[in-house]
Amino acid sequence: MEELKQELADILKPDKKNRRHLISLLQEVQQRSGYLSKEAMLAIAEFLDIPGSTVYGIVTFYNQFRFTPLGKHPVKVCMGTACHLSGGKLVLEAMARELDIEVGGITSDHGFSLDRVACVGCCALAPVVVIGDSVYPKMTPPKVEEVLVTIKPVSQEQSEKQ
Ligand code: FES
Repeated sequence: MEELKQELADILKPDKKNRRHLISLLQEVQQRSGYLSKEAMLAIAEFLDIPGSTVYGIVTFYNQFRFTPLGKHPVKVCMGTACHLSGGKLVLEAMARELDIEVGGITSDHGFSLDRVACVGCCALAPVVVIGDSVYPKMTPPKVEEVLVTIKPVSQEQSEKQ
């Protein structure tokens, strides 16, 4: 915990020691680590002198926060209005099924993580999926498998190197 506090020292600065900074602190820590560990949430709670359950409540309320690390290939399914109206929910369900993880989860080989995100700014291509830096336009449930097979899982990449 002490090690973590040192790591977060440049985020948990004295001028941020106020409960109104809770969300921005959570965002900064997540931006750095890719997710919010239990230890990080407790460090923030201790820093702000608020119960850990309060921090946990906020983290679970907003779906921008995640409890698990990002996969090597972070999959983000857009659920902004245009994408939602164009079948984004079906694409998200197909992605979860194909990866065999829930939203916010990560595959056992850490190859893929799955999140829903708000508008990614290319609504004309809805519904959109972003994997790493690549945007996949006009997605459909059948296209989910096609896209995923073009991306090698980590375990396959590692076994090929050996
Ligand atoms: S709503 Fe999905 S890109 Fe805008």
